[in-house]
Amino acid sequence: MGELLKVNQINVYYGSIHAIKDVSFHVDEGEIVTMIGANGAGKTTTMHAISGLLKLGSGEILYEGKTISRMDPHKIVQLGLAQCPEGRRVFSGLTVQDNLEMGAYTRKDGRDAIEDDFDMVFDLLPRLKERRNQPAGTLSGGEQQMLAIGRALMCKPRMLLLDEPSMGLSPLLVKEIFRIIESVNKKNGVTVLLVEQNAKMALNIADRGYVLETGNVKMEGAAHELADNPDVRKAYLGAK
Ligand SMILES: Nc1ncnc2c1ncn2[C@@H]1O[C@H](COP(=O)(O)OP(=O)(O)O)[C@@H](O)[C@H]1O
Ligand SMILES: [Mg+2]
Repeated sequence: MGELLKVNQINVYYGSIHAIKDVSFHVDEGEIVTMIGANGAGKTTTMHAISGLLKLGSGEILYEGKTISRMDPHKIVQLGLAQCPEGRRVFSGLTVQDNLEMGAYTRKDGRDAIEDDFDMVFDLLPRLKERRNQPAGTLSGGEQQMLAIGRALMCKPRMLLLDEPSMGLSPLLVKEIFRIIESVNKKNGVTVLLVEQNAKMALNIADRGYVLETGNVKMEGAAHELADNPDVRKAYLGAK
């Protein structure tokens, strides 16, 4: 299977701060790839560079073999590359249903296809169905995360970028969110780039992983190899 996303030696700056330094990685069609790293490593910056929210200083990002480096964010979504942002930003005053509808706003494939995806999302996330007429602000943290994932799925993505979906959730809900991510990948066939501080859970469901440290890719490999690596275990998995 081919390379769906290719990030080629990118550099990203915030003024004089050099946040991302010559970062390269790729995600193949059908994979779950995780990028793990501590707070401040540059994970969100990398995601925003891919989704077009931040300009590159240099380097290139290719999606389906074509450059998206200077494309507008909504155009990138239209290509099938959807982002589920950090901190599950749902529209709290809108209902669950309307939040999901917002996810579909760039689509041009007609109402029937959108209705099919409502069914798909409610099937995957039944709790959202029960709460479809409730304002999103009244949902629990875990339910809001499910809504953020559901909203991204309403774009009908080929690839999903997830920025720390487990942040702030109880261990039980973290498990459920990771189960949902696996299902989106395995059942719906969506390729996933998963950014996480929860390295243990992320490496558990991923095919491959990259370790980001202060804006550099420090290590890469099969997820099970990284999970067994003594340096990774010590720095990210709490081993002694
Ligand atoms: N808007 C910003 N302005 C200046 N510096 C920023 C901004 N956003 C992030 N940074 C800096 O860039 C680095 C990477 O941040 P970020 O990508 O948010 O890391 P992560 O998501 O891995 O926690 C950090 O040093 C952070 O302080
Ligand atoms: Mg972040």
